[in-house]
Amino acid sequence: MNDALDLIMSRRSVREYKDSEVENEKLFKILEAARWSPSSGNVQNWRFVVINEPNLKMQLAEACLGQYWITTVPVIIVVLSDDSKLRTLFGERGESTYSIENCSIAVQNMMLEAKSIGLDTCWLGAFDEDKVLRVVKSEDPNVHVRGVVALGYAAQIPPPPNRIALKEIVFFNEYGNKMVK
Ligand SMILES: Cc1cc2nc3c(=O)[nH]c(=O)nc-3n(C[C@H](O)[C@H](O)[C@H](O)COP(=O)(O)O)c2cc1C
Repeated sequence: MNDALDLIMSRRSVREYKDSEVENEKLFKILEAARWSPSSGNVQNWRFVVINEPNLKMQLAEACLGQYWITTVPVIIVVLSDDSKLRTLFGERGESTYSIENCSIAVQNMMLEAKSIGLDTCWLGAFDEDKVLRVVKSEDPNVHVRGVVALGYAAQIPPPPNRIALKEIVFFNEYGNKMVK
């Protein structure tokens, strides 16, 4: 098995895409990666709406606070959570925390699988939830929007943005204890 770190480090948030379609076989591999994510109590609360119609992309761009660059992205995946089981199993913590965490892991798995098969992605977290729900036509009060993922073949891959050094974020035994090198 290859070290996953190269894949993780090579993923970038891509905002410029080619006009090429995403093959269904690849799309379903990416969704399969999401399906195999871990989830609290194995509740698998994630749901996915695949958007490929131009008029819906435009509505989604508006719902994503005017991020009109997504109108040219081949595929957009809206990640939803059905919170009903989470509430029954875990109460408030299920809805406020696990709902988001489980979906976030699914998004990361999709982004990494996409990268590994030659596609790129961008996670959009800036959206008006009610507007996104209207775009996907969900009126279920248990369903919440947890993310929007742009997917396609990159026209341009940006350079890696800065990352804070490990020594600034890793502590041994006590918060604030800097690593000794
Ligand atoms: C929770 C979350 C929300 C984000 N929301 C947006 C967004 O609305 N629009 C956007 O263009 N990028 C968005 N991003 C992408 C970040 O800007 C990007 O991950 C960050 O700048 C680091 O760049 P990299 O992903 O290329 O390493 C989001 C990322 C995360 C994890």
